Amino acid sequence: MSDHVTIVEVGPRDGLQNEPYTIPTEVKIELIERLADTGLGVVEATSFVAAPAIPQLADAEEVFGRIQRKPGVRYPVLVPNEKGYERARQVGADEIAVFTAASEAFNKKNINCTIAESLQRFAPVLERARADGVRVRGYVSTVLGCPYQGEVPVAEVVRVAEALHEAGCAEISLGDTIGVGTPAKARTMLETVAKSVPMEQLAVHFHDTYGQALANIHACLDAGVRVVDSSVAGLGGCPYARGATGNVATEDVVYMLNGLGMKTGIDLMALARVGDWIAGELDRPRSRTGQAILKR
Ligand code: HMG
Ligand code: MG
Repeated sequence: MSDHVTIVEVGPRDGLQNEPYTIPTEVKIELIERLADTGLGVVEATSFVAAPAIPQLADAEEVFGRIQRKPGVRYPVLVPNEKGYERARQVGADEIAVFTAASEAFNKKNINCTIAESLQRFAPVLERARADGVRVRGYVSTVLGCPYQGEVPVAEVVRVAEALHEAGCAEISLGDTIGVGTPAKARTMLETVAKSVPMEQLAVHFHDTYGQALANIHACLDAGVRVVDSSVAGLGGCPYARGATGNVATEDVVYMLNGLGMKTGIDLMALARVGDWIAGELDRPRSRTGQAILKR
C-alpha cells in the first residue's frame, strides 16, 4: 500500500465560509498563495455559490482571478450548478467540486433541493466538465450523522457516492459534516463505500466537533484511504450545520502522518507559520501542533 497521502487543504473554502466577520479579499489571496508554498498539492480555493447562501465567499471571482497559481498545485473550487460552473470557468478554474449529501434534510437546507434533484443539477455540469477536460470531485455530506435527521444509513452514503462516481466524479470525498463519527463507525462506512467505489477514488473529510477526527483518519488510513481533507489551523464549519466546529487541522494531520512514516511533501514548520498567521488574522486559536512546534 502506498505511503503517500494527498492532503486536500480546504481552509480557504470550508475554513472561511463560516467566519462571522468579513475577511478582506487580500487576506484570502495571501492565504491561498502561502498554503501553496508549503508543499501542499491541492488547495481548495473558494466557492462559486449564491452570495446570499455564503456571503463570506461572494468575492470568488476576484479571489480566484487574482491568485498567482503555482505550477503543480491544483486549485479546485465548489460549484453547485451550471451558473457556478460558468462563473468558475470564466476566471480560469480547471478543477471543480460538486456537493450533495446522504441526508435529505441537510441537503434541503444546504442547497435547497432533494438528493435526486442535486444529481440532476450536476448532470449538465459534469457533461460540460468532461468536454472541457475539467476534473470533478464529488462531496457527500453527513456520512456519519445529520444535524436535522440524526442517523444516516450507510446504504444511503453508498447510493449517493456510487451515483457521483457513475456520473463521472474522479474522486468522492466522504464528509462527516458535524464531526459525530467515531473510528470504528468511520472505518466501516468507508469500507462499505469502497465495495462500490474504488478506495483510490475516495477521500475522507472530518470535522472535529468531538475531537475524534485524527482517530477517525487513522482508522480510515488503516482501511486504505490515501486522500485526506483538512483545514489549516482547524478553521471551518458549515453555516447549515450549526454547532459543528472546524475541520481537523492540517498541521495535526501532517504531524500524525510524519509520525506514521507517511509522506505528504508538506513542510510542517512552514505550514504552522501559515496557521499561526491566519489564526491571528481571524482571532482564532492555533492548531495543537502549530502551538507546540512554534514554541520550541
Ligand atoms: P436556490 O435559491 O434554490 O437557487 O439556491 P435558484 O437557482 O433558485 O437561484 C436563486 C438565486 O441565486 C438566483 O438569483 C440565482 O441567479 C442565484 P436571483 O435571480 O434571485 O437574483 N444563483 C447563483 N448566484 C451565483 N452563483 C451561483 C448561483 N446559483 C443560483 N452558483 C443554491 C440553490 C445551490 C444556488 C444555493 O442554495 C447555494 O448556493 N448553496 C450553497 C451552500 C453552500 O455553499 N454550503 C457550504 C458548502 S457545503 C459544505 O460545507 C460541506 C463540505 O465541506 C463537506 C462536509 O463537510 O460534509 C463540502
Ligand atoms: Mg466540510
